Amino acid sequence: MKICVVGAGHVGLVTAACFSEMGHRVVCMDQDRKKLAGLRKGKVWFYEPGLEDLVVKNLKKKRLFFTDRVAEGVKQSEVIFIAVGTPPLPTGDADLTAVEQVVRQIAQVADGYRLIVEKSTVPVETGRRIKQALEMMHRKKAPIEVASNPEFLREGSGVYDFFHPDRIVFGVESARARDLLEQLYKPFKAPILVTDIASAELIKHASNAYLSMKISFINAVSVICDKVGADVQNVARGIGYDTRIGPSFLRAGIGYGGFCFPKDLEAFIRIAEKLGYDFKLLKAVKQINDDQRRILIEKTTHLLWNLKGKKIGLLGLSFKPDTDDLRFAPSLEIIAALRKGGAQVHAYDPQAMPEAKHLLGSEIHLAKDPYQLARDADCLILVTEWKQFKELDLVRIKKLMRQPVLVDGRNLYDPGKMARLGFRYAAMGRGKEA
Ligand SMILES: NC(=O)c1ccc[n+]([C@@H]2O[C@H](COP(=O)([O-])OP(=O)(O)OC[C@H]3O[C@@H](n4cnc5c(N)ncnc54)[C@H](O)[C@@H]3O)[C@@H](O)[C@H]2O)c1
Repeated sequence: MKICVVGAGHVGLVTAACFSEMGHRVVCMDQDRKKLAGLRKGKVWFYEPGLEDLVVKNLKKKRLFFTDRVAEGVKQSEVIFIAVGTPPLPTGDADLTAVEQVVRQIAQVADGYRLIVEKSTVPVETGRRIKQALEMMHRKKAPIEVASNPEFLREGSGVYDFFHPDRIVFGVESARARDLLEQLYKPFKAPILVTDIASAELIKHASNAYLSMKISFINAVSVICDKVGADVQNVARGIGYDTRIGPSFLRAGIGYGGFCFPKDLEAFIRIAEKLGYDFKLLKAVKQINDDQRRILIEKTTHLLWNLKGKKIGLLGLSFKPDTDDLRFAPSLEIIAALRKGGAQVHAYDPQAMPEAKHLLGSEIHLAKDPYQLARDADCLILVTEWKQFKELDLVRIKKLMRQPVLVDGRNLYDPGKMARLGFRYAAMGRGKEA
């Protein structure tokens, strides 16, 4: 099949590369020429395991093409996925201007039947808005349909997730749209759920809101654990064995970040408000998440007595392991709070340091490895649970530090072992602190 994907980012590029790997001819369009220049040479502008190999392979096979012209993709493709960003506005609403702009461009150049598929995460009723916009601006009167096909991949395992989804959701309004999407997704083994467009849009927002809720739930429990000396890891295990609950997303820590949960939760709260419903539950989820960063800073301050003049090293910057993405990363809030308290902030991250340098400039000192980071540090804060941090030589780390203080924002280490090694150690909800 001939496909166009608009947006060569974390979702769009994975979608384009994976569909081309399945043998489809894919034109991937983006407005950013710098990104495209790299992509045409097989260079992916962000870190996503396995993605660059797919891009290189399918460029060579001449199944994957990059362009900055919508017309080029739309003229040749029956199905057009929109995977542009939908960042939050200051109000919390999703900014849909890029989506609208793309729809407008498609309408101008489409010369026959086209299926526009929302892959970006959008609030419910965006499909209806797109249809209204198309009716108003579609000059050539070619039949253009809209569908929703939300994406559930996770950064860091995007390629794997694309090929192994838990489910595939289509929101469609005609048999033709349904057939086209079914044809595309036929080789996948996952269950396919076909709905109306609004339901498909809601499935995505509701899924992310639910996962955020699970994280905030266990984080709230972790606060109680800290107060009574219980261990939230054990509590989570005990809860998770219940098949009605399940073990995933019950890891207490400094809370969620990234380009999905924070903005999607806010957008869901806002669209609910507009529809006349006060989604109090989700407001509490957000509040608890914000509190976790504050609690981490309080723990750090408590252990160090004062932040002023202290050298604090952050282990990890990306919002989660296996990505270099810093969008809405908890590290950014933590850095700002530590600096406000007068600390000197240093950091090491296996992938996100170029982006951190670009974003934070002289606000942060970057170390070349965790051991350099530990040298003369008054405290280390584990922010991202990269695998290599689990395997650190903690004896060596302790020797290098000025004071052996470690605050574990992801509950990566064993409190008993940390105490035996002589660290002053604090984690999130793991009972009495060493
Ligand atoms: N990142 C994730 O893990 C993830 C997972 C599921 C869904 N989503 C959703 O997918 C959408 C895209 O997210 P992302 O992480 O891929 O963002 P991204 O910033 O990585 O990629 C978006 C791309 O769109 C391009 N773009 C922006 N405006 C454009 C325009 N008018 N025309 C052409 N290209 C344009 C940008 O240059 C960028 O390359 C969002 O709605 C997001 O919520 C993201």
